[in-house]
Amino acid sequence: MRRITTIAVAVTAASALALAGCGRADEGAANTGSGGGSTAGSTGGGTAGFPADSLIGVSLPQKTSENWVLAENLFKTDLAGAGFKTDVQFANNGVAEQQNIVQSMVTKGAKVIVIGPIDPAQLGTQLQAAKDAGATVISYDRLLSNSPNVDYFAAYDNVKVGELQGQALLDGLKAKKPNGPYNIEIFAGAPIDGNATSFYDGAMKVLKPKIDDGTLKVVSGQTGFKQAATADWKGENAQKRMDTLLAGSYTNAQLDGVLSPNDTIARAILTSVKQAGKPIPVVTGQDSEVESVKSIVAGEQYSTINKDTRKLVKATVQMVKDLQAGKQPQVTDTSSYNNGTKVVPALLLPPMIVTKANVKEAYADDPTLSKLTNG
Ligand code: BGC
Repeated sequence: MRRITTIAVAVTAASALALAGCGRADEGAANTGSGGGSTAGSTGGGTAGFPADSLIGVSLPQKTSENWVLAENLFKTDLAGAGFKTDVQFANNGVAEQQNIVQSMVTKGAKVIVIGPIDPAQLGTQLQAAKDAGATVISYDRLLSNSPNVDYFAAYDNVKVGELQGQALLDGLKAKKPNGPYNIEIFAGAPIDGNATSFYDGAMKVLKPKIDDGTLKVVSGQTGFKQAATADWKGENAQKRMDTLLAGSYTNAQLDGVLSPNDTIARAILTSVKQAGKPIPVVTGQDSEVESVKSIVAGEQYSTINKDTRKLVKATVQMVKDLQAGKQPQVTDTSSYNNGTKVVPALLLPPMIVTKANVKEAYADDPTLSKLTNG
């Protein structure tokens, strides 16, 4: 079953800064990870603490976007810097490989296992094994579903990401021509990734009323999540679909905008449009990938989302440190993230929209991206 997300409560900018910037969770915070009293008890790892040089496992999905690659190195460095032994692994071959990786982390005695799942619903057996071994499980970026053995969720507010993308599409269209109707197409991410649903749902909150009142026209008629989805988050799949849409629905009509859930898919859409010799539409994105930031600076891709991986890894590592010290990690939301079995206490960081207008400020403190925005 897919993750059930109601309204995600955004953490305030101030508390996010305190969390991510200072790295020290506010120990006096009212919200704890107890999530109805079941969290610490569900693993036994929540409050007992464990030796400071314990093994921490980090199981990452496939390298479908740059954020995962950045996370790999940051987890290695930050966890080792805090004195832990680390086992950080991608599951490039898919779900079965990730199941084996998580199981082997349990067998090796990892005290905390951080998981960015490929298919959030397919790790139930391994999560049960983690619980039986007394390990704490932190769901990272994507929410593990259909298991009671998920202790914490650390992520950017995914529904908010979608809302920002939907609003950016509208803003970009208005900036190009003040009045609609505008012809648009809708793309979504991988159907097995619950985040893809959250991004789509968030965006549709903003776009649906405008589709209903005729301001936006989805010329292909493909507005449903399944129709819009992109298998495996792969650019090539999105590019093929865009080629088909252009050939089928835009021989005479002009395409004004495309809702894209992330940067990889945004660039694939732009490639398709350019190859078809059509004018560049307003295209949204997410992840602040190097090539997309360059494209925004060059005036092609319209927007991306800044979900600074450094901050999310830092906040997750802080959770691990708290668990090691026998403290409840700080969370910001104890009611919104129902994984189908339980409400998972969540630490949510606020995502930020980036367009050409604020690209310089947005990456001012990022050594890699700030180099792209000068001039
Ligand atoms: C992440 C996005 C990313 C996508 C593809 C999602 O679960 O939240 O940041 O673009 O996966 O890797």
